[in-house]
Amino acid sequence: MRSPSCHDRPVPHFDPRNIDAVLSGLNEHWSPRTVAVVNDYDVRVVKVQGELTRHSHPETDEFFLVLSGHLRIRMDDGEVTLRPGDTFVVPRGRAHQPCAETETALLLFEPSETVNTGDTPSSLTAPRTVA
Ligand code: NI
Repeated sequence: MRSPSCHDRPVPHFDPRNIDAVLSGLNEHWSPRTVAVVNDYDVRVVKVQGELTRHSHPETDEFFLVLSGHLRIRMDDGEVTLRPGDTFVVPRGRAHQPCAETETALLLFEPSETVNTGDTPSSLTAPRTVA
């Protein structure tokens, strides 16, 4: 008798979402895709290049993880440079301007209602889009 394995009962509803696959289908910069929802937070991936509008999020911290490339985040009191594998949290209310000289891929973790340009709408403001 064969013992049950995890391959016996595929449940499509629980199919994994692959970050690389989502990113490879993403052609726009600064246009995040939500790949998972954790309680009322989104896990988002995004490709970026150039400068995003300087903005802040009065209601929330914002978590960044660099997947590939390099990201600079300018803030009023300095600037951080993040490399692949680096994480950084911009505290709520802190003005920041992400900037990437070459195409860079990020993972973001933030409340689902968070808008990418925060309190400063611009041509780069992106609607929430579930991958
Ligand atoms: Ni932000």
